[in-house]
Amino acid sequence: MSEFRALLVEKTADSFERSVVERTTADLPDGDVLIDVRFSSLNYKDGMSATGSPGVTRNYPHTPGIDAAGVVIESTDGKFTPGDEVIAIGFDLGMNTAGGFGQRIRVPAGWLVARPDGLTLEESMIIGTAGFTAALCIHKLEHVGMTPAAGPVLVTGATGGVGSVAVMLLSKLGYAVTAVTGKESQHGFLRDIGAAEILSREQAREGSDRPLLKEIWGGAVDTVGGEILWNAVKGLQYGQSLAACGLVDSPQISATVLPFILRHVNLLGIDSVQLPLTQKAEIWQKLAGPWKPDGLATLKETFTLETISNGIDRILAGEMVGRGVLEH
Ligand SMILES: NC(=O)c1ccc[n+]([C@@H]2O[C@H](COP(=O)([O-])OP(=O)(O)OC[C@H]3O[C@@H](n4cnc5c(N)ncnc54)[C@H](OP(=O)(O)O)[C@@H]3O)[C@@H](O)[C@H]2O)c1
Repeated sequence: MSEFRALLVEKTADSFERSVVERTTADLPDGDVLIDVRFSSLNYKDGMSATGSPGVTRNYPHTPGIDAAGVVIESTDGKFTPGDEVIAIGFDLGMNTAGGFGQRIRVPAGWLVARPDGLTLEESMIIGTAGFTAALCIHKLEHVGMTPAAGPVLVTGATGGVGSVAVMLLSKLGYAVTAVTGKESQHGFLRDIGAAEILSREQAREGSDRPLLKEIWGGAVDTVGGEILWNAVKGLQYGQSLAACGLVDSPQISATVLPFILRHVNLLGIDSVQLPLTQKAEIWQKLAGPWKPDGLATLKETFTLETISNGIDRILAGEMVGRGVLEH
């Protein structure tokens, strides 16, 4: 029963309070593998967990952190031995299972992939759930036929975690990327990571009263939902697809069947959380090899347990740029 430090979110009468506390491994749930967490990362969902969003976390006190990368301390499962470097993203980690914002986690072996050659633990957390999800979107879009020849690819919420990795990766793979952002001050950042064109959120909402828009997009990665998502679907070229993974603007869409029955387009769903482990491992292998984004470190902002609370406030306010990494 060893001691470690963790961010703890506690429910009070009228709010959710965060503090850094001492915990022991006896506080962790049962599981196959105890891990010394070296790095975690900051995702929008961690913000939801830290502020009592019931769709993410039901029981408090709770330690958020849907991502963790570290070294196995103990394992009752033959697949892992002490000293192995592993990555955990998704499943219940950081939702109702104490997550990577603590220096130790104990999880089922079925949530873990071995760190792939080609990525350090820190790089795996610069990518994290957000970057993994960007890759999953592109993987699924290519599976249904997206190619650079089809035309520009729209990325919404482009300076955020999913968005910035999507811009970087699409550009590396030869796509012309149009980035949608609400941050005028970050146009230089977006161009540096590979955006060819930039639209404001207002421009991305233009024509929302029309049933169809000019056919422009050869594909789209949407992280925001709502009107911007639907406008992007209406602006897809014939037969092309949009991957929907987020809801920071709205979970609602007001839609018609017209783009589907007149333009033959596809609206693809993306879930990185319950994605079977074999498919997770396949995407990690791509990200460690041919899809490893160049200049990953330029996306990184490092937090400690003492500063991560500030990162949580900023991601909820839509103010983060790139990827927040928590170094333990
Ligand atoms: N389906 C999955 O498996 C999965 C996995 C990971 C994440 N997600 C979801 O994907 C979304 C993005 O996650 P993230 O970690 O990348 O969050 P993030 O870092 O906060 O990025 C979201 C970005 O969206 C833009 N934005 C914020 N508020 C907006 C609004 N009201 N209207 C339009 N744009 C807005 C901002 O970028 P700009 O300022 O550049 O516009 C912001 O940086 C979240 O909804 C998250 O839950 C889903």
